[in-house]
Amino acid sequence: MFWSFFNYAGLAGGTVVALYAGLLGLLTTSWFQAHVVYLHAVQMTWGKDLDIPEVFGFLHNQVTPFRIKSVGVESLYTWHILPVGLYRQREIDLLHEASGFVPDITSRLGFKLLRDDPEARLVIHFHGAAGTVGSGYRGPNYRALSAGQPDKMHVLTFDYRGFGRSSGWPTEQGLIADATAVVEWALHVAKVPPERIVIYSQSMGTAVNAAIMEHYAQQYPPIVFKGHILTAPFVDVPTLVSTYSVAGTVPILGPLKRFPILFDYLKSFIKDNWSTKNRVASYVRTNEQNGQPYKLTLLHGEDDYDIPWTHTPVIFWHAVNATRSEKVSFEDFEKIKDESKVDLGYAGSLVECKTKTGVIREEILKYGLHDVIMGNPVVTLAVMRMFEDE
Ligand SMILES: *[C@@H]1O[C@H](CO)[C@@H](O)[C@H](O)[C@H]1NC(C)=O
Ligand SMILES: *[C@@H]1O[C@H](CO)[C@@H](O)[C@H](O)[C@H]1NC(C)=O
Repeated sequence: MFWSFFNYAGLAGGTVVALYAGLLGLLTTSWFQAHVVYLHAVQMTWGKDLDIPEVFGFLHNQVTPFRIKSVGVESLYTWHILPVGLYRQREIDLLHEASGFVPDITSRLGFKLLRDDPEARLVIHFHGAAGTVGSGYRGPNYRALSAGQPDKMHVLTFDYRGFGRSSGWPTEQGLIADATAVVEWALHVAKVPPERIVIYSQSMGTAVNAAIMEHYAQQYPPIVFKGHILTAPFVDVPTLVSTYSVAGTVPILGPLKRFPILFDYLKSFIKDNWSTKNRVASYVRTNEQNGQPYKLTLLHGEDDYDIPWTHTPVIFWHAVNATRSEKVSFEDFEKIKDESKVDLGYAGSLVECKTKTGVIREEILKYGLHDVIMGNPVVTLAVMRMFEDE
C-alpha cells in the first residue's frame, strides 16, 4: 500500500515534468506560438452569425458588415458601426436598407454619413487575442467608444488575418499589414483625415496600435492621428511570457526564471516580439522632433490577471523618457511620478506628462479586470479627451 502510493506519486510527478517539457518544446514551434499568442482558433462567437449584428445587441442596420482588402490575404471581415444619435436622426432611411453583409459599402447610407460629414469622427478599433469583432465585451466597448459624441463618433472594427471570417494565418508582420490596410481604407476610401481619427486598442491589439502609431509618425510627411488609446498593454512578448499565467494561476515560464540560461534560451525562440515599449518611445521621440501634436493614453486595471498592470508603468516610462534629452532610471522616474500623481480614490490614480507638443497619460484603475474595462465610462472619457483641444 505504502510503496504503491509512492510509486504512483513518482509516476504522477514524472508525468507532470514530461508534460511540462513537452509543452515547452511545443512552445518553441511557431505554429504553437501563434495559437498561444493570438488564440485565433478560439472564436467564442460559435453558432452566431456575424452578418447579423443584431444578435450582438445592435439596432437593426446600425452595423454594416463588409470586407477590406489586405496584403497577401483575401480580405478582412469588418464592421462599420453607427453611433446611436446619428442612427436616430436617420432611423427611417436606415430601416429601409437591405440587411446583412454588403459587397459594396460605398453604396450605403451609413458610409456616406461617415464620408460626407466634415464633422464626422472615427474610432478605429484593434481588438485583442481570440474571438471576433462580435465576441465578449467588444460590443459594450464599441458603445462606450461613441457614447461621448453619439451624433458623430463612428466605429470601425475588423478581424485580423486568421481570426473569425478573415482568411490567412496571424503573424506580427501580417497583423501590422492588416491594421495598415484598415487605416488606409479610413483615410482614402472613407476620406476621414488623421485629425478626426482615434485608434483604440485592448490587450494584444495594443501591440498592433504601437506598431501603427510608429509607422505613420515616421512617414514623410508624417501622419499623426488625433490620439491612441492602449487598454491593458504589455511591454513586449518576452516580458509577457515571463509574467503570463493561464487563467491567472498556472504560470507557463515563471518556474524557469530560476534557471536564467534556459529561460533566455527559450525566449530566443520567440518569433513575434511585439515591442510596444520601443515602438511607443520611437513614436513619441519622432513627434517631439517633428513638433507634431500627439496624444497617448494608457489604461490598465490593477485587478487585471491576464496581463499584470505593472506592464503599463514600464511603457509609460519609456514614452516619457523619449520626451527628454537625459535618460532617467525606472526607480527615479517612479519617484518623480509620485509628485504629480492624482489620487482618484476607489477609481485608482492618474499621471499626465505634458510637453509643448504632446500629452501622455497613465491611468491605473483599481477595478476593470482585463475585459470589463472596455465597456466602462473611463473609455468614453478617454475618447472625449482626445478631441478636446487644450
Ligand atoms: C525576440 O526577443 C528575444 C528575446 O528578447 C530575442 O532573443 C529574439 O532575437 C527576438 N526576435 C526577433 C525576431 O527580434
Ligand atoms: C531614455 O532615453 C535615452 C536618450 O535620451 C536613451 O538613450 C535611453 O535608452 C532611453 N531609455 C529607455 C528605458 O527608454
